[in-house]
Amino acid sequence: MHVLGIESSCDETGAAVVDETGQVLSDVVHSQVSLHAPYGGVIPELASRDHLRNAGPVVREALARAGLGWDAIDGIAVTNRPGLVGALLVGVQMAKGLAWARGLPLVGVDHLVGHLLAVFLRRQAPAEGAPAPPEFPFVALLASGGHTAIYRVDGPAVAQVRELGATRDDAAGEAFDKVGKLLGLGYPGGPIIDRLAKDGDPKAVPFTLPMGHTASFEMSFSGIKTQVAARVREHGLPSTPSELAGTCASFQAAVTSVLAKKLIAAAVQEGVRTVVIGGGVAANRELRARVTALAGDHGIRAVLPELASCTDNAAMIAYAGLVRLREGERDSWDLVATSATSLPRATRKGRGAR
Ligand code: KG4
Ligand code: ZN
Repeated sequence: MHVLGIESSCDETGAAVVDETGQVLSDVVHSQVSLHAPYGGVIPELASRDHLRNAGPVVREALARAGLGWDAIDGIAVTNRPGLVGALLVGVQMAKGLAWARGLPLVGVDHLVGHLLAVFLRRQAPAEGAPAPPEFPFVALLASGGHTAIYRVDGPAVAQVRELGATRDDAAGEAFDKVGKLLGLGYPGGPIIDRLAKDGDPKAVPFTLPMGHTASFEMSFSGIKTQVAARVREHGLPSTPSELAGTCASFQAAVTSVLAKKLIAAAVQEGVRTVVIGGGVAANRELRARVTALAGDHGIRAVLPELASCTDNAAMIAYAGLVRLREGERDSWDLVATSATSLPRATRKGRGAR
């Protein structure tokens, strides 16, 4: 079974072909980073127009790289939520048009479910000794630019996903991006901070993380951004490469230690022996190392997606759609683009007692 996935929820236009084993036959991502970089963040109207320009060529390229014609495609999956509605609409309308023209079944995919299942993707030829995919149930940390939450995942369907805790304010990736901006590093901040932190002293700046020591799986990342802002106001921007590296390393250590600690604590509480991570922040070197080490300490198996499967891509959408199509599920022509996730939410945004 071959499914074509289409992704246009934010600032990446993607198309990919995946088979039922999770093997990625092609994965084409057109990034809009340089388009939005001068503004320090994504401009929705520019994003929609750029998706419109690139969706056609990206889909054609995905089929060409997979070496497949339309006759080999068994279904089309498209991100229809959550995201920028104008951006999502481009992918949804394109998917509907293609499905209609080719007489193919169509399914909408929740972008966050795509991130949760990205760990099932395989990008190399099946090799002996490659780690086996995770088995359900697992506890998953989803950390992207717009969402950060810990879920218990009993199966691939939305109804089998339960939120154990989420951020009350900023997403982890959002904190990386805002801190990157405060330090004048450019957009997006996550990969830049990851790189700079490598040579820095993680004890250089004593950041405190709100909710870092509570037993709850709720999180908060806006406070640490405020601490960085206050430091810059008081002392100015880091003036030497080693000061900058130290600030990045200290910030990254604080954020990744809380994410890893809460993920493993949630798995222990749930009595679940497998953890996975997903979303752009799952590409972070330190987070990956901490999750692997802490899981090992607790006799828990950590399964990490390949780097290309962490940040936004259409392969994860194709796979999440394939799982639905395989069950005989289909969406109709009235499939809509919407800004809200379909995943259950337990954590309320904002401060105060719960
Ligand atoms: O999943 P994603 O590509 O898009 C969303 O769905 O949001 O995540 C993008 C986020 C951005 O905030 C970006 O700064 C962050 O993931 N990110 C990273 C790294 N790579 C991407 N954060 C920390 N370390 C990284 N290596
Ligand atoms: Zn994403």
